[in-house]
Amino acid sequence: MNITAPDKHAQLKAADANSSVLAFMAKRRSALVRAMTGPGPDEEQLAVILRLAARSPDHRKLFPWRFLLFAGKARAEFGAHLAKFFTADCPDLPPDRILFERTRFERAPLVVGVVSSPKDCPRGTPKWEQELSAGAVCMNMLLAARASGFAAQWLTEWYAFDTRIDQVLGLQANERMAGFIYMGTASEEPMERPRPDIANLTQIWREN
Ligand SMILES: Cc1cc2nc3c(=O)[nH]c(=O)nc-3n(C[C@H](O)[C@H](O)[C@H](O)COP(=O)(O)O)c2cc1C
Repeated sequence: MNITAPDKHAQLKAADANSSVLAFMAKRRSALVRAMTGPGPDEEQLAVILRLAARSPDHRKLFPWRFLLFAGKARAEFGAHLAKFFTADCPDLPPDRILFERTRFERAPLVVGVVSSPKDCPRGTPKWEQELSAGAVCMNMLLAARASGFAAQWLTEWYAFDTRIDQVLGLQANERMAGFIYMGTASEEPMERPRPDIANLTQIWREN
């Protein structure tokens, strides 16, 4: 599919009613990585998914995020680190548990790590906003992946919070993982899950 990028100075629409987008959002679900198989996006499809994910709100155009791609052999290579650190922490693991760690990234044909990479911006964009922008990129990536025909799930699991893994991934001191977006083809369609009662989460603000 040819998803063109607008020219740099193109005038875009601020609103564009589109009921099929609303219907898509109404039925959007994450796929479960345990029900994911190949194929994943090819190079061209991935380029579109990343470009659309990066069309996310970002105060002061800092682009405070970056991507790490895990495909092919790299998934097993990274899995060896997962197994090593997990075994160091829990030495008495049964072999099948170690194998699970070793093959975590092989659950999907492609994993995209989204690194939150806030820029030093004294009195500028707060770090919190920059981290929220990384979350927005993850969400847009889920949408773009699904609309490209792929199953996707946003996971952090334990390795998004492990400083040894941060080192393996080459993260700088100010960086952390916003998530790992697993992408592939659903081997089983997900069921709807409970959704919140919006009225319970919504208040009309009034001065006390
Ligand atoms: C930041 C973030 C991290 C998540 N990490 C995990 C995880 O480690 N394990 C997990 O089972 N689900 C995790 N989830 C939840 C799933 O990705 C997903 O939100 C959930 O399965 C269903 O959401 P849906 O409304 O997109 O279908 C995480 C979600 C977010 C937003």
